[in-house]
Amino acid sequence: MKKISLFIFLIICFFSCNQSKVSAPQKIKGAMGEKAMVATTHPLATATGLKILRKGGNAIDAAIAIQFALSVVYPQAGNIGGGGFAVIRLVNGTVTTLDFREKAPNLAEKDMYLDKNGNVLKAKIRLGHLASGVPGSVAGMWALHKKYGQLSWSELINPAINLAYSGHLLTEKIAQSLNDKQNDFQNVNRYLPWVINVKGWNKGDTIVQKQLASTLSFIQKNGRDGFYKGIVADQLIKEMILGGGIISAKDLINYEPVWRDPIKGFYRGYTVYSMAPPSSGGIALMQLLKGSEYFDLGNMEFNGAEMLHYKTEVERRVYADRSVHLGDPDYYKVPTEHLISQKYNYARFSNIKKRKKTASSEIIEGNIAPYESPSTTHFSVVDPSGNAVALTTTLNGSYGSCVMVKGAGFFLNNEMDDFSAKPGIPNKYGLIGSEANAIVPGKRMLSSMTPTIVEKEDSLFLVTGTPGGATIITTVFQSIINVIDFGMGIQEAINAKKTHSQWLPDTLFIENGGIDSEVQLELEKRGHLIHFKESSSKINAVLVLEEGRLEGGADYLRSDSYAEGF
Ligand code: DON
Repeated sequence: MKKISLFIFLIICFFSCNQSKVSAPQKIKGAMGEKAMVATTHPLATATGLKILRKGGNAIDAAIAIQFALSVVYPQAGNIGGGGFAVIRLVNGTVTTLDFREKAPNLAEKDMYLDKNGNVLKAKIRLGHLASGVPGSVAGMWALHKKYGQLSWSELINPAINLAYSGHLLTEKIAQSLNDKQNDFQNVNRYLPWVINVKGWNKGDTIVQKQLASTLSFIQKNGRDGFYKGIVADQLIKEMILGGGIISAKDLINYEPVWRDPIKGFYRGYTVYSMAPPSSGGIALMQLLKGSEYFDLGNMEFNGAEMLHYKTEVERRVYADRSVHLGDPDYYKVPTEHLISQKYNYARFSNIKKRKKTASSEIIEGNIAPYESPSTTHFSVVDPSGNAVALTTTLNGSYGSCVMVKGAGFFLNNEMDDFSAKPGIPNKYGLIGSEANAIVPGKRMLSSMTPTIVEKEDSLFLVTGTPGGATIITTVFQSIINVIDFGMGIQEAINAKKTHSQWLPDTLFIENGGIDSEVQLELEKRGHLIHFKESSSKINAVLVLEEGRLEGGADYLRSDSYAEGF
């Protein structure tokens, strides 16, 4: 009997020991680099950035080359017909940001997307020629090049031209995204752009884009004017006229990117730099970090009920502020200092209860779940001298307006949907807005893009950012607290399950598999309405490790992202 008991005991021990080995948390490491790192959403864009760095280009050169390469290999978000934001930190500690966000065309009107009953015409603001703002990407890249470029403009565009001219292979995810959009491509284009394929796209199909190659060559030869004047501008204007859009030649000529001071904040001894309005990202991120500090999230169980309750309550308040106070600062006085101050935020979070979600009787229930498509992209670059760039760029929706400019081979954005077409009515990300973000000719629509750089003791620490519409801000927030508060490496922080709340709709979104049933029950007891879904987190980031080496993190679990360093 004794022998049998011992045998059973040993068997149990064997299995439980084995089990605990299997389930023991793995320290996941990202790509390693001694002095340089590139993390983007496509291996060919990462290779382009590395090539530029190896040639002696700096992080800004690499960023420009990556932006153009992404317009070829990642057409749903990489673009020359969209816009974005860049946060740059030079090795000497100078931090600056460039706003190359799209602008409302001069003929835009406040109520242009409302029908006669005052309802928002969603199809008009999200698809087709009227959905586009004046693109800012090429002017943005030109401004970056003029200020910081080391290599010639021509060298930076060459890789993109080669990729467009010689072709590249479709990844499975991109093939799928092209297939998902076939109806929209057919509905909004007056001709058959290459993206239309009745047989459907497959992984491994070769994509050659001769028209885009000539457009890029024209930009290569003529700099900024290669897009805003001459043949490419003519093609764009013709597209507008024939398709019923309103972007004019004057809108193109007048487009200017803007150098802006970063939003700067402090978090647990780290200094955080992020994007100022017209992105809401920087301000909202600083508010979230204040919330994390106020409740000391780092001392709670990661993604446990207590942490998620407080995090959600903070997020609801921050997004409520976003909907009222934020807009293009050139048109609306944004109370930035007030919104990021400790005093304001601590007072704002002081009515958060421990056991109960705050009643939202004053909140108009929004039953629209935020819809996100993989249509923005973020990349992070650190060069061998220590300069860093965090750049987020977008067409807004997947393939933007779905209009491909005839003859020029590039997609136009549908960024007008980031304006508040009508106060209180949600856009495609479920975000609502007010007067601060109303449409005005020449104004920039409010963004959530949050390219961010964090310093530790005056040295570069983290370069981060992500796509994800409304979820961008909370995802960047999680990338920072996962590293600083929960001690994760950057790849681990990226892989970790994400959660998101944005006040309206009144829901706590949790990535599938993010919490167990016990935590779910605990959160529901506190009043949270939980909705499980896929996350649109696709962070590409670089973390400086203790010994000065670089860890590149790329969201390979949720996308084709790839990081590599040297
Ligand atoms: O600027 C913004 O906030 C949006 N246009 C971003 C859209 C986006 O991230 C979609 N991608 N998932």
